[in-house]
Amino acid sequence: MTESVVEDETKTYSPPFSIAIAHELLSTYGSPLYVYQGDRLHQTLEHITRSINYPHVQFHFASVTNGNIALLQLIQQAGWGLHANTPGDVFLGLKAGFMTDRIVYTGSNLSRADIQQLIDWKIDRFNFDSLSQLQDFCEYSRTAGRSRQTELGLRLNSPELTGDSRIGLRPDEFDKAHKIAQQQGFSITGLHFYRGTGTNATSAFTQAIDRLIAIAQQLPDWRTLDFGGGFGYPYRGGAVFDWTEFGAAITQQLTALSRPIELVIEPGRSAIAGCGVMLAKVVSVKWQGSRQIVGVDTTVANLSVPAVHGGYRAIAIWETDRSRHQTDICGNTTYSRDYLGRNCWLPTLKIGDAIAILDSGAYGYAMSSHFLHRPRPAEVLIEANRHRLIRQREDYSILLNGQIF
Ligand SMILES: Cc1ncc(COP(=O)(O)O)c(C=O)c1O
Repeated sequence: MTESVVEDETKTYSPPFSIAIAHELLSTYGSPLYVYQGDRLHQTLEHITRSINYPHVQFHFASVTNGNIALLQLIQQAGWGLHANTPGDVFLGLKAGFMTDRIVYTGSNLSRADIQQLIDWKIDRFNFDSLSQLQDFCEYSRTAGRSRQTELGLRLNSPELTGDSRIGLRPDEFDKAHKIAQQQGFSITGLHFYRGTGTNATSAFTQAIDRLIAIAQQLPDWRTLDFGGGFGYPYRGGAVFDWTEFGAAITQQLTALSRPIELVIEPGRSAIAGCGVMLAKVVSVKWQGSRQIVGVDTTVANLSVPAVHGGYRAIAIWETDRSRHQTDICGNTTYSRDYLGRNCWLPTLKIGDAIAILDSGAYGYAMSSHFLHRPRPAEVLIEANRHRLIRQREDYSILLNGQIF
């Protein structure tokens, strides 16, 4: 079900804005810097929204990818709901202005305190991934006087459709789930599917629709199909997930059903990766034979995806000369995996040059950490040619937060 993508190692990439803008941003806000293009985010949301003409569809942004409140506000104003993975996602979503009925929670391994917190916040759309969690939720929320209007769904675990995953329930557990919910006065109305993150092959999704609908029919009260998450993004110019093809296929198959089924789509990276870029500055250049070793003023702890997932973002520079050298872009620590890019094909760089790490809008800042003890960068939003700070740069005092000494 996967498409193989042959990457051209010598490919070069263009920065998303002019060198003049890059300099203005870096001199105003400092380096390194996350920069988001609001117009690009809008265009992407609109493209995804328009691709699915099914009349009963709702889009929920998966904020696991990016929890910046200014960006969440743009997404909320575009008419999308929120998909929450943790109580923290809900907390940020509520601060950004999402109404509780526009939040879908798909969780795993919730404690009683988590459940109580979500109940206190009046969240009422959940997808569960085990019988014990379902039972615990139903019992607990009944004793807490929770309304039976809560929409409960089951996260599907089916090796054929979801691969080898710890998450979800097998279809042969659905009957038991139905009974558990019924005993406590609830019903299971939703089926939740998550293909696995970053799948660019459109067919991996369209080929699953038939099977999912068949599995969902095992739920007597089925009325919602939540299709995830997991839609790929063409990092480094790989295959592009085809929203129009997917939209046509899902619309056709859901429309053919005898009753209206609500469709929920919860894109994460596919919605927000492309609007973000991380700017950094070159602080050191050396050569190992013909290989250019470039040191920059950021680290994988500021943009941890390469270290965690293995893949690198495309790196673009503002052309200095026409030469091209095999180049490693290295972070500002001695951590052996501190590379922001490897085997890039770049011109000769010099100290002070700016670089742009592309497609950093998803799992970028959200996955940054204080590993290596460097404070996090600032975040800036550009909208209609104006820029503004949307998160302050941290300073060293952040490293003392919560420490008792
Ligand atoms: C249930 C669910 N939906 C959506 C997402 C977002 O995934 P992606 O960024 O691959 O679209 C995630 C990511 O963890 C998830 O767990």
